[in-house]
Amino acid sequence: MTQEELFKKLVAHAKEYGFVFQSSEIYDGLSAVYDYGQNGIEMKNNIRRYWWEAMTRLNDNIVGIDAAIFMHPKTWVASGHVGAFNDPLIDNKDSKKRYRADVLIEDWIQKQEDKINKEVEKAKKRFGDTFDEAMFRETNPRVLEVAEKIKTINTRMVSSLDSGDLKEVKQIIEDCEIVCPISGSRNWTEVRQFNLMFETKMGSVSEDADTIYLRPETAQGIFVNYLNVQKTGRMKIPFGIAQTGKAFRNEIVARQFIFRMREFEQMEMQFFVRPGEEMEWYEYWKEKRMRWHKSMGLGDNKYRFHKHEKLAHYANAASDIEFEFPFGFKEVEGIHSRTDFDLSSHQKHSGKKLQYFDPETNESYVPYVIETSIGLDRTFLLILSSAYTEEKITKEDGTVDERVVLRIPPALAPIKLGVFPLVKKDGLPEKAKMIMDELKIDFACQYEEKDTIGKRYRRHDAIGTPFCITVDHQTLEDDTVTIRYRDTMAQERVQASRLREIMEEKVSLRTLLKQL
Ligand code: GAP
Repeated sequence: MTQEELFKKLVAHAKEYGFVFQSSEIYDGLSAVYDYGQNGIEMKNNIRRYWWEAMTRLNDNIVGIDAAIFMHPKTWVASGHVGAFNDPLIDNKDSKKRYRADVLIEDWIQKQEDKINKEVEKAKKRFGDTFDEAMFRETNPRVLEVAEKIKTINTRMVSSLDSGDLKEVKQIIEDCEIVCPISGSRNWTEVRQFNLMFETKMGSVSEDADTIYLRPETAQGIFVNYLNVQKTGRMKIPFGIAQTGKAFRNEIVARQFIFRMREFEQMEMQFFVRPGEEMEWYEYWKEKRMRWHKSMGLGDNKYRFHKHEKLAHYANAASDIEFEFPFGFKEVEGIHSRTDFDLSSHQKHSGKKLQYFDPETNESYVPYVIETSIGLDRTFLLILSSAYTEEKITKEDGTVDERVVLRIPPALAPIKLGVFPLVKKDGLPEKAKMIMDELKIDFACQYEEKDTIGKRYRRHDAIGTPFCITVDHQTLEDDTVTIRYRDTMAQERVQASRLREIMEEKVSLRTLLKQL
């Protein structure tokens, strides 16, 4: 199965099992907007809680807030979003479709890389075991020619985007003979800058209404509250403020399911430090955030850092944590050293002092900031995509069965325990419900009595439930149940009174938090 096929299956599975639905589906959907279903929201809440507790509970000097989505419009002037939060766009005059110019060029580059990979594959087949791939890439004239083309176009793209030379961006599209994927024509408009913020009006009468924006990041809600929190919480530098919540961006190229959406959630933390100490803290948070990711046990080799060469206007260092999705390594989290840009700019635009008096140095200064910014939906997608597994199972009678199992880290799974009476009579449903009533206060449990036990197991495998128990006639005699483990499919008989302890060890957030 190719990675593309796997991804298609994953999207279908997420819908079929109540994880993610297209928004307003009965009206044919709203592009790049999604709703979380009954299982999706449970898992999303678990991820959010894991992040929140790792930040606010495990660090004495980090507290949380929940700022409003609407903010004073000047906020976005100060942050630079009104002036510079743009994408370069181009329209095809025949199909009337709009594209991000840089994405068209990146797709072209990807096609050239695919050409190189095809040459390598062909040569591999031809030379067999004696094939030296590195040598081939370094010496094959066809490969070298394409690699050189990629390098030249990439350099031109980066420098034209950097300098805002939109004529040159259009020229690259023409030089590469890029066609519109819909019309197949090269009939392009000029490239224009397009601001990604959504606007709305606040006020009851439209003439006096003020234009305000839906926040494109949660970070600014933290910056404008920095002094409120510092003073009321008597926080001493270094300290952090964490927040999770919705952000909105009018993404033109919204692709890959919930990877890039127009309405999404961020989990951000701004860490305020002494000027001059920011690089130390930047390295500290890079390492600490990577540890958080790896603690979920999805495979250490699936993560890597990507250091930014081209820095945003506010940063003096930045790295992404990338994860290997079915469509390649992509950013999930950014760790940015944001200098004093945001606080100084808010100080200037608001006219309010945002300085901190440091009792240790007897100085007042505007703190520097290290930001960790992770997408909740992207984290959800990375867990789902690495959890999705199709398995063939050879049964005792030699026949082969198949199952789809979501190997979600147990602490993050939407449902922790499936509770099944063997049959719908003889007092077994009542006994099963009694056991469940005891456990549901602490764990998300689901009662199921329809279909064979095998089918019930499959349904719970498909949503990633780590444990299922079956209540049978023996339970009525000795209070034991059969517990079945999702990953190994092993079954054992245990005292019902031990269930809490067995579950607690595997499914509580403690199992993850302890590793940090
Ligand atoms: N405050 C810094 C900031 O917003 P960013 O790199 O633009 O930085 C941080 O966004 C994270 O938010 C990204 O790493 C990604 O996980 C998530 N994110 C950004 N745009 C997104 C979108 N359109 N859909 C889903 N997640 C997105």
